Amino acid sequence: MANTNLKSRPRRLRKNEVIRSLVQETVLSPLQFIAPIFIHEGSEKEIQIDSMPGIYQFSLDRALKHIEELQKSKINSIILFGIPGSKDNQATSAWDEHGIIQKANKLIKQNFTDVLLINDTCLCEYMSHGHCGIVLEKDILNDPTLALLQKTAVSQAASGADIIAPSGMMDGMVASIREDLDRNSFQDVAIMSYSVKYASAFYGPFREAAESTPQFGDRKSYQMNPANKREAIREALTDEKEGADIIIVKPALPYLDIISAVKEKVNLPIAAYNVSGEYSMIKAAAENGWMDESKAIIEMLTSIKRAGADIIISYFAKDIYKLLSID
Ligand code: PBG
Repeated sequence: MANTNLKSRPRRLRKNEVIRSLVQETVLSPLQFIAPIFIHEGSEKEIQIDSMPGIYQFSLDRALKHIEELQKSKINSIILFGIPGSKDNQATSAWDEHGIIQKANKLIKQNFTDVLLINDTCLCEYMSHGHCGIVLEKDILNDPTLALLQKTAVSQAASGADIIAPSGMMDGMVASIREDLDRNSFQDVAIMSYSVKYASAFYGPFREAAESTPQFGDRKSYQMNPANKREAIREALTDEKEGADIIIVKPALPYLDIISAVKEKVNLPIAAYNVSGEYSMIKAAAENGWMDESKAIIEMLTSIKRAGADIIISYFAKDIYKLLSID
């Protein structure tokens, strides 16, 4: 006869769905998701991104429709990425007041009063060479790039952005953007900094979506080495001191330990970016019938929340509400 004298029987709390839900430690809500949206300057309504099934580059008018659909799924926070009509080596169309993002901001603010409008503030989509800063020979210059990021951030705020999200991993980007926003009376515009951004293979599908693959070399001289953890804390604390309001860790799934470590050390909300590769992996496996897509999505996103993310930026944001109601 087996020992029936067990004091601890964790299975008592797993008996049925009601009790399992009652003791569930981590709960997902669409209210804490941010949906990325790609907006292109061309005339086509939508262009399917081959490496990210279900994700599109939208025209301006089609993007507005998409935001309506997102709101029906309880998503009110969006982050915009622009695919401009022309690129050069000063990222002119990133800070042009008639740039694609500036046009989108104005239009979105005219049409929606209750959308939290975030702009990715990076230059790679707007640079002919695809790097996140000004290039001299083979070097990506830090300080001259800051001036372009300042101009870009101010023009994004002026056209309606509620939150500026610098993602170029330039040193001092948060301090210099904060200073220029304040100088231009945008004290209330927040900064959500990609403080901890690794040089990751998981951005591959995004680069097709945003047409931002570097034309030479890689991003290792500015994005972080995936092997480093203490450096993540240093980056996050630096951005906190420079005035960031929200700290992003990116990617999410292969960096759960980093999310958890940053959460311990920094008293700002933590956003995790569930990046394109994490999206495409699940889509590819599901299309092959290798995994249950809905369950895999919920499990992955729950793990990111459980690790310590307060907010999740995800291409699955649009699906969350429906998935949670089925579950
Ligand atoms: C721009 C930027 C990138 C991502 C977000 N902003 C690409 C990169 O750094 O190469 C990646 C997002 C994703 O993979 O979903 N610098």
